[in-house]
Amino acid sequence: MQYNYGDAYLEYPIEDEYTFDDGSRIKVHDIFKPLPEFMKQADLVFVDPPWNLGNINTFYMKAEQDHRLDDFEAFYIRLFECIREIRPRVCYVEVGKQYMPYFYMQMKKQFKYVTFYNSTYYHSKDKLCYVIRGSNKAKKPSLDGMDEESIIEWICENEDYDCIADLCMGQGLVGLNAWKNGKRFVGTELNPKRLSVLIKKIKQAG
Ligand SMILES: C[S@@+](CC[C@H](N)C(=O)[O-])C[C@H]1O[C@@H](n2cnc3c(N)ncnc32)[C@H](O)[C@@H]1O
Repeated sequence: MQYNYGDAYLEYPIEDEYTFDDGSRIKVHDIFKPLPEFMKQADLVFVDPPWNLGNINTFYMKAEQDHRLDDFEAFYIRLFECIREIRPRVCYVEVGKQYMPYFYMQMKKQFKYVTFYNSTYYHSKDKLCYVIRGSNKAKKPSLDGMDEESIIEWICENEDYDCIADLCMGQGLVGLNAWKNGKRFVGTELNPKRLSVLIKKIKQAG
């Protein structure tokens, strides 16, 4: 079975990297490879990574890759290494219940202040998740109970930043919302077909 995400890739194919008019950059990339230098431009991070082993292997399958992981810890350790290299002032990471304590501990290793919010996805009250926020200055925006999509909108509109990074961009909610607010973004994503959706949305919005 093929996952084509509305066929955006046919009109807006991306082989490797793409740079938007404002300098925002995205790259087809597996986070196990060395972090692209341009990702270090970011002073804010939001990332919604795969939440467990089954989930990440489904994403490899959807990206038409034969590669599979047998250890989810290896993935999230690498994710937090990338965040450490970016050194953002503020970082948000989304996660499901299963790995919430592990992600929380990783955030505590990097940030002085760590808090988390109860959240949902797909705007469904039954689809529960968490968004963890880390920073080195004390601040706790009131985001509890908001859907993750609304949290992304809030962050892109209200956090103080020049450039936001997303290490697992997917179809690009973070990029789209940064762009709507006149802010730069940088991002990596395994699946080129998913990144094409972001290019299409930004091109169509003009
Ligand atoms: C939950 S989705 C992110 C959804 C995203 N917030 C959006 O706006 O569509 C997780 C994404 O992580 C990507 N991903 C999975 N493994 C990855 C890896 N090793 N490196 C980079 N991206 C990866 C998947 O392809 C998927 O698009």
